[in-house]
Amino acid sequence: MSSTTSRRSSPATESDHVVARLVPSRRLTDLPTYVFAWLDELKAEALAGGADLIDLGMGNPDQPTPKPIVDAIAAAYADPRTHGYPPFRGTKQFRQAAAAFMKRRFDVSIDPEYEVVCLSGAKEGIAHATMAFADESTVTLVPDIYYPVHGRATGLIGGETYLMHLAPERGFLPDFNTIPADVLRRARVMVLNYPHNPTGAVAPLEMFEEAVALCRRHGILLISDLAYSELTFDDRVAPSALEVPGAKDVVLEFHSFSKTFNMAGSRIAFAVGGRDLIDALHGVRTNMGYGTPAPIQAGAAYALDHIEQLEGPIVARYRERRDALLAGFRSLGWTAEPPHATMFVWLPIPRGYGAQEWTRLLIDRAGVVVTPGNAFGPGGEHFFRLSLIGDAPLLNQAIERLRDAGIRYDNMGDASLRRA
Ligand SMILES: Cc1ncc(COP(=O)(O)O)c(C=O)c1O
Repeated sequence: MSSTTSRRSSPATESDHVVARLVPSRRLTDLPTYVFAWLDELKAEALAGGADLIDLGMGNPDQPTPKPIVDAIAAAYADPRTHGYPPFRGTKQFRQAAAAFMKRRFDVSIDPEYEVVCLSGAKEGIAHATMAFADESTVTLVPDIYYPVHGRATGLIGGETYLMHLAPERGFLPDFNTIPADVLRRARVMVLNYPHNPTGAVAPLEMFEEAVALCRRHGILLISDLAYSELTFDDRVAPSALEVPGAKDVVLEFHSFSKTFNMAGSRIAFAVGGRDLIDALHGVRTNMGYGTPAPIQAGAAYALDHIEQLEGPIVARYRERRDALLAGFRSLGWTAEPPHATMFVWLPIPRGYGAQEWTRLLIDRAGVVVTPGNAFGPGGEHFFRLSLIGDAPLLNQAIERLRDAGIRYDNMGDASLRRA
């Protein structure tokens, strides 16, 4: 109803004053319930009731970005040449730093001109890579315990996902032999994430060899999410899928600065892989945005160039926290092995409890917030995740709260807690 003329030619009726219900797309509303949103509501409810919560649910790093990186960002921002739109694929300095890192760390040669693209976070990069290769007719292969975007990006474009089971007795690694032939025929994308959020599993290079061979055979893009590649402990070293000969034909690998350098708020990451794959990802991105601010890229390039000095204290802090939390849970009857990577601890739930029921119990009885394992898919139903986002005193306080509430792994068969 924009012009006077049209008003005159079609007089207003009563129905013009009724506001029609505007509904979001089916692709959005058909996504499975977001368990994280349920957790937010539960926390809000508890806080409104006066609860004092220790929140170990979120994966947001609590420490600041190291000062030399902040200084590099500030210095770059002071230069007005960084104030325009950043170059689409990333600044030359950033792309060269990414390629040099890939060579030093993994002995993988990357052409900084064509085989790397700067991203505003691995999360959106992975969503864009999915959009570049999957559509309504294709299947995306995703583990049944997964970081949400790995599966949800496919749902948002109307594609189908097939969940590959991650069994604890296989070290939370998928068994590619169990994927049905008709699924493999329609599969266009596979997503792997090792070191794995939330289980902390680290995959050997042999798993990537198998995955690359399968993807090459069937024409499948392998999205490998290495967000935690540098957060490993106990002499574990996470490999890159690109170490496998021929991997550049099928692999897009995602590296994030969020956890390695406490830069989650700066929104920067990069993807590396074969030129055609990078071109396709870049093709989606140029249609949707402009990329990460150039000063942030300058700080990230500084971070990669100095990673050997910068990452040590960050990794050591997470290792100390892991040891403190694990020791606490052992004192409560859990027998789990320590995870060798990531900033999370993944523990089994005592028999008889569902993941969300268990989470509610810990909040109600102890004021300790954890993430129910099913927030990461059906394979997580019997587990819960704790984030290492506080130092030992806070983690010990959480353990004491659980102890005071009578929560132990080995006495939860006693239904009294549930009735309380
Ligand atoms: C497995 C995994 N991939 C990607 C991300 C997000 O990375 P970014 O901050 O670079 O978008 C996270 C954040 O928690 C994650 O756990």
